[in-house]
Amino acid sequence: MKRCATAERIVVVGGTGQIGSKAVRRLAALGHDVRAASRSLGVDVALGPPSGSDAEIAGPDQMPLADLVSRVLRARGDRRVVRASPDGRYFGGRLARDTLLPGSGARILPRTLGEWLSASGANLGP
Ligand SMILES: NC(=O)c1ccc[n+]([C@@H]2O[C@H](COP(=O)([O-])OP(=O)(O)OC[C@H]3O[C@@H](n4cnc5c(N)ncnc54)[C@H](OP(=O)(O)O)[C@@H]3O)[C@@H](O)[C@H]2O)c1
Repeated sequence: MKRCATAERIVVVGGTGQIGSKAVRRLAALGHDVRAASRSLGVDVALGPPSGSDAEIAGPDQMPLADLVSRVLRARGDRRVVRASPDGRYFGGRLARDTLLPGSGARILPRTLGEWLSASGANLGP
């Protein structure tokens, strides 16, 4: 993995979780000075109990998950073929065609996946 020219000091809130721990490892491998933060490490970023309301945001694209993964891989130069498994489960649940779509009150942000891939220089790393 190519290391960054300028190392930064980065705190990953949720850095002990499933996603955050991977981010910590990856950022460290890039040469950054990374620290994980979570309640189990003595850092609580919540200002109070849950407000009971969720802010739902989404992008303008709608596509099957396998297509999304495929596009991100291709943007990285990875030509592996992604096939959706009709019996595959997502956190134990079976996905219907519109299971993960934003609800009616969601804020739809304008940036498309293609624009995001271009802006990130498709340099998303392995
Ligand atoms: N996993 C996925 O495939 C997936 C997909 C889409 C979206 N997401 C979203 O991505 C986020 C992370 O997912 P995950 O699967 O990595 O979750 P996770 O494994 O449960 O990790 C959550 C992390 O956040 C920390 N945390 C929770 N409350 C905190 C607080 N008040 N202050 C500081 N740290 C706190 C947890 O540690 P402590 O409990 O020790 O505080 C843990 O490190 C979630 O919002 C999830 O909904 C996940």
